[in-house]
Amino acid sequence: MPEVPEFRSRYGPCALVAGAAVGLGAEWSRQLAARGLDLVLVDRDAGPLVATCDAIRREHAVEVVPAVVDLGRADVVDAVARAVGDREIGLLVYNAALGTVAPFLEMDPAHMARMLDVNCRAPMLLAHALAPAMARRGRGGIVLLSSMSGNVGSAQLAVYAATKAFDLVLSDALWAELHDRGVDVLAVQPGSTRTPGWLTSQGPGADVTGPMVMDPADVVREALDALGGDATVLVPGELNRMGAQAIASLPRRQAIEMMSQVTSKLVRNDR
Ligand SMILES: NC(=O)c1ccc[n+]([C@@H]2O[C@H](COP(=O)([O-])OP(=O)(O)OC[C@H]3O[C@@H](n4cnc5c(N)ncnc54)[C@H](OP(=O)(O)O)[C@@H]3O)[C@@H](O)[C@H]2O)c1
Repeated sequence: MPEVPEFRSRYGPCALVAGAAVGLGAEWSRQLAARGLDLVLVDRDAGPLVATCDAIRREHAVEVVPAVVDLGRADVVDAVARAVGDREIGLLVYNAALGTVAPFLEMDPAHMARMLDVNCRAPMLLAHALAPAMARRGRGGIVLLSSMSGNVGSAQLAVYAATKAFDLVLSDALWAELHDRGVDVLAVQPGSTRTPGWLTSQGPGADVTGPMVMDPADVVREALDALGGDATVLVPGELNRMGAQAIASLPRRQAIEMMSQVTSKLVRNDR
């Protein structure tokens, strides 16, 4: 990981974190502030977003701008641009997602379309809006949140997992087009990570504190350490990397069945 001044000159002066109020999003924001970046933090709920902004300002001498925007709205780029103003965005972290757990046949089509908007359309359009200036400057970064579930489909996660496959492949392609132009692109595929969103998918007897569940701080630290390195995609955590390799080595049908044994135990969360 570059030292703070180098990190700021490479990815600063300002980062845009989409889905920044809680969980992994708030942690991206805290750790980027600790590395000296000013922040525009986007989320849909003003209360938790403002609380996160205030907490970061108390700890770090950086500018922190809250932007209450629903990332599923049709004019998402214009709405975010109004909040950014003339600030120079050197790093985009697209963290927001609708992580709905539900049997495919029981899902509301309007909600499925909204998942595409928040998980796929918005990161694609925001990357498209911000990357040209990064490429012109010859520096910057884009981090897209995929998921280990984006490698192989599984029960109850049909739409979510497919959106995370989109994010992974979009990130691959952005890496291919931008890394020679000085823009670092990284896909992050967390395993189970203790966030408010993840907790809504866990049943009463679920193990939410065991070694297979990571803390957001460790996920984000590993990802920021990997940004600008050789990897195009990061699976945080040694146990998760071993699990991902094991699944990847299976015939696809077996991989789907094995993943589905786990995901069929998740509880419907309607979020
Ligand atoms: N946690 C895990 O185990 C895990 C595993 C694999 C991948 N990931 C990925 O990591 C990222 C963060 O995951 P997380 O679910 O755990 O979330 P999180 O970091 O706890 O929070 C996501 C934030 O995005 C916000 N958000 C959701 N929809 C939005 C919208 N339409 N407009 C603006 N903000 C919106 C959420 O607000 P609300 O609270 O109002 O929804 C929340 O503040 C996601 O991309 C997810 O796919 C997480």
